[in-house]
Amino acid sequence: MPLKATLKQALGSLASIDFLEKLTEYSLRQKAPSVSLAASEEVAAPGTTWVEVADGGRRKLWRKTFDRIGARDILLLEFGVFKGDSMREFVNLNTSPDSRFFGFDSFEGLPEVWRGTSREHFSVHGQFPDIADSRVRFVKGWFNKTLEPMLDELAELAKTRQVIVHFDADLYSSSLYLLFTLYRHFPDYVFIFDEFDGHETRALYNFVQATGAGTEFFHHVLWQGCPTSVSGRLTAG
Ligand SMILES: C[S@@+](CC[C@H](N)C(=O)[O-])C[C@H]1O[C@@H](n2cnc3c(N)ncnc32)[C@H](O)[C@@H]1O
Repeated sequence: MPLKATLKQALGSLASIDFLEKLTEYSLRQKAPSVSLAASEEVAAPGTTWVEVADGGRRKLWRKTFDRIGARDILLLEFGVFKGDSMREFVNLNTSPDSRFFGFDSFEGLPEVWRGTSREHFSVHGQFPDIADSRVRFVKGWFNKTLEPMLDELAELAKTRQVIVHFDADLYSSSLYLLFTLYRHFPDYVFIFDEFDGHETRALYNFVQATGAGTEFFHHVLWQGCPTSVSGRLTAG
């Protein structure tokens, strides 16, 4: 076997898939225009710990993104709810009585292991977060079972509302499924990705490759030089 092929095979068998994906993501966001953050504004939060920088930063990013949209009616679709931390903030950022918020989650954890995080890590044992707002509805189950039956209802609501999609499922497989499935009904929406240094970058890149959809990034948050939360707009290709 040629030396180059032998080296590649050795690297492929030694390195974990997660490690190799990580390399792809680093090069992707610098080289692929569809996931390049170069033209977007960096949102910085003061502090040095992850909670101060990444979590504080994402809250500022959410506010800036909602400010762009203004006080109009929205249809917010969140994929990955967990204990409702982000959903709780979204309902405060848009108080229009006709806005609607849908939170999709298994509420039993991830469908597969994610970067060493066990499937059960995000399990809340089927419990919905306690959010006392009649505009919010939670949908329990795996996305590939729960989203399709809801699409007509959501598309109807979207006719008079600005659609915002919060992608916070962490996994490549979940994010890719969502991007393709939503695109059939929602060819133009505002997106927020919560974990853009992870699988989500590659999912968006592969989705844009396949569909020719357009992306424009508004804001991004960096943690130790790598993007975490990003927001922007997706448009039909
Ligand atoms: C990082 S947590 C969400 C955190 C939440 N948005 C917050 O800010 O607190 C990711 C969630 O995605 C859910 N999830 C990932 N893939 C899923 C899938 N295919 N179907 C249903 N739920 C999924 C997991 O159950 C988990 O609760």
